[in-house]
Amino acid sequence: MKKYDIDTPALLIDSAALHRNLDRMQRVAEGFGVRLRPHTKTHKSPHIARLQVEMGASGVTVAKVGEAEVMAEAGLDDILIANQVIGATKLRRLAALARHARIAVLVDSSEGIELLDAAFREAETGIDVLIEVDTGKGRCGLTDLEQIVALAEQVARAETLRLRGVETHEGHVPGGAHSEGQLEERATSAGRRLVEVADALRDRGHVVEDVSVGSTPAAPYTAVTPGVTEMRPGTYVFNDVNQMSIGQATPEDCALSVLATVISRPAPDRAVLDAGSKSLFAEPARRAFAYTDYDGFGYMRQAPAARIVTLNEEHGVVRIPPGTEFPAIGQQVEVIPNHVCPAVNLHEEFYLVDGEDVVEVWPIAARGKVR
Ligand SMILES: Cc1ncc(COP(=O)(O)O)c(C=O)c1O
Repeated sequence: MKKYDIDTPALLIDSAALHRNLDRMQRVAEGFGVRLRPHTKTHKSPHIARLQVEMGASGVTVAKVGEAEVMAEAGLDDILIANQVIGATKLRRLAALARHARIAVLVDSSEGIELLDAAFREAETGIDVLIEVDTGKGRCGLTDLEQIVALAEQVARAETLRLRGVETHEGHVPGGAHSEGQLEERATSAGRRLVEVADALRDRGHVVEDVSVGSTPAAPYTAVTPGVTEMRPGTYVFNDVNQMSIGQATPEDCALSVLATVISRPAPDRAVLDAGSKSLFAEPARRAFAYTDYDGFGYMRQAPAARIVTLNEEHGVVRIPPGTEFPAIGQQVEVIPNHVCPAVNLHEEFYLVDGEDVVEVWPIAARGKVR
């Protein structure tokens, strides 16, 4: 099968670009002397997770218990759920999972620790936890050292829990960044803060094995601080327009595109694609210091100067600048999503392509696993 025989909209992965991206990040981690535990929320595919482990990753990261179940079922046996897991049903599933694989989970509250310990006492099993530290993102996680110490002490007292380490997601690093220097400064300060917290816990007698950071835009910088032990980037497998906006990717580094068909050319300056918000995900691209003349809902490889200006559910409306060539009705275009992770979650399978040839079709087995 050739890629232009694929019915659209569909997700294409350029096999060579995927392998380059996997290899590059593995080497970044090895250069820093830290373990790579990639976040699989970007691809939601055990096929790619297995490739990551074969290339040297120490395990995988997921956001949800449902994603962990899919990965464990596929044989991935070292999984960090980098999230707070709250709720009786989820905790029962978590305890069942922890019998079959090496699982760890985050905590950031006394209530969360109590619920987790109670569920695991009931299930008569145990689990490792990492304390989530907020290094600037302002999502979950604690900033105050005394509160973090109190949680570590509570974990130490809990019958079924073992403190494995501390964790942060320095996802705030690229937001509105105006230079590479600023990315570096924010990322290194997040890394330093997490190591400081780990050392403070050790000073109080706790064993802290894992000092875990993670974010693709910050990946070249955060783990520079001695004491960081693990990094968890996710987006790097595919890259996207957001990565282009901070100068960390070119279109050639973007391994994934949404293949779409031109279905209408109602005016010389307008074309319509069969891919809308249900295929591309309607998120504006990040505004940052590189690639600043871009505004649109995806970068079209065959027409970089044209812009997808409007997304309806099943229509992408393209504005074509005067004098610009654009594919005709029935022809296909490859669109790099602004934010690749939620776009992937909208689809059922990946078409892996080598040049023009489709070489494999991989199910996106953990898509929609939001519980
Ligand atoms: C907890 C956590 N770790 C790691 C990552 C990976 O970040 P990125 O997608 O920038 O690679 C994310 C992304 O959302 C995350 O939430």
